[in-house]
Amino acid sequence: MSKNIIFYFSGTGNSLKVAKDIATAIEDCELISMGKLHNLSSTYERIGIVYPNYAGGMPAVVERFVKVLDLSVNKSSYVFAVCTSGSGTGGGITKIRKIIGDKGGKLSYYESIRCFSNYVGLYAMGNDADNKAKAQSQATKQIIKDIQSFAVKPPAKSNPMELMHGPFMKLLANRDKGFNVNEACNGCTTCSKVCPVGNIKMLDGKPMFLHHCEQCMACIQWCPKQAINYKDKTQKRGRYHHPDITLAEMINKN
Ligand SMILES: Cc1cc2nc3c(=O)[nH]c(=O)nc-3n(C[C@H](O)[C@H](O)[C@H](O)COP(=O)(O)O)c2cc1C
Ligand code: SF4
Ligand code: SF4
Repeated sequence: MSKNIIFYFSGTGNSLKVAKDIATAIEDCELISMGKLHNLSSTYERIGIVYPNYAGGMPAVVERFVKVLDLSVNKSSYVFAVCTSGSGTGGGITKIRKIIGDKGGKLSYYESIRCFSNYVGLYAMGNDADNKAKAQSQATKQIIKDIQSFAVKPPAKSNPMELMHGPFMKLLANRDKGFNVNEACNGCTTCSKVCPVGNIKMLDGKPMFLHHCEQCMACIQWCPKQAINYKDKTQKRGRYHHPDITLAEMINKN
């Protein structure tokens, strides 16, 4: 059994990169995707939760995961959360603190990191992925130092955007009904493998969306043929994934 464990959720690799960097630095650390539930039966020194900001909050799958995470043998563990976002503001700050507190645990450390903005369903992808990746790595260094030394830095204040999270995410529910696949699709199955929540099934060599989409953008962003689009919005918006994260890492960790 490892001494440390980090749970992460990631569509385009920003959060996976942060989680990986922390895991490597603190050593003896398991890295587990929050796409599937996990039975926390052993005791850990440090428990980390790393996720992207979705409209001021946590992705719904992260909230569900943390809510059912059994902390009974980990009430004294050092629990930390790191949120990646395009703006640098944290998401789900008050909620995650409350969920962990309600279980008798304590969120000792919370930090957010500014990363590349990946929401291609809403806007065009920028052309500064390498610079953003460098800045992300730089910001992660301080967080690593803090976590190595068990620094206590609970979330100071909530993000006003958190109030928008519920209504905004309701608007996005079933948005995969607007996803379409064009003739460039070669049936490679990448999209179904990279989807962190198993929302894509291959049917007759083409992806079929099952309507429990988290809007993580992984399928649109990682399709090697750029064959998946949201309505007529994303055809010309470019594609992004973190330059240091490979498709194999995304898939292996799902
Ligand atoms: C559905 C969705 C909502 C998002 N909402 C916000 C937001 O409110 N504020 C923000 O700064 N970034 C927002 N982003 C950008 C992501 O938080 C950011 O790019 C994150 O680092 C992506 O992490 P990942 O690569 O691990 O998936 C959003 C992205 C998605 C897909
Ligand atoms: S990843 Fe793209 S090319 Fe591959 S099966 Fe999915 S839609 Fe088709
Ligand atoms: S269907 Fe696409 S956008 Fe939705 S959760 Fe799966 S990979 Fe993410």
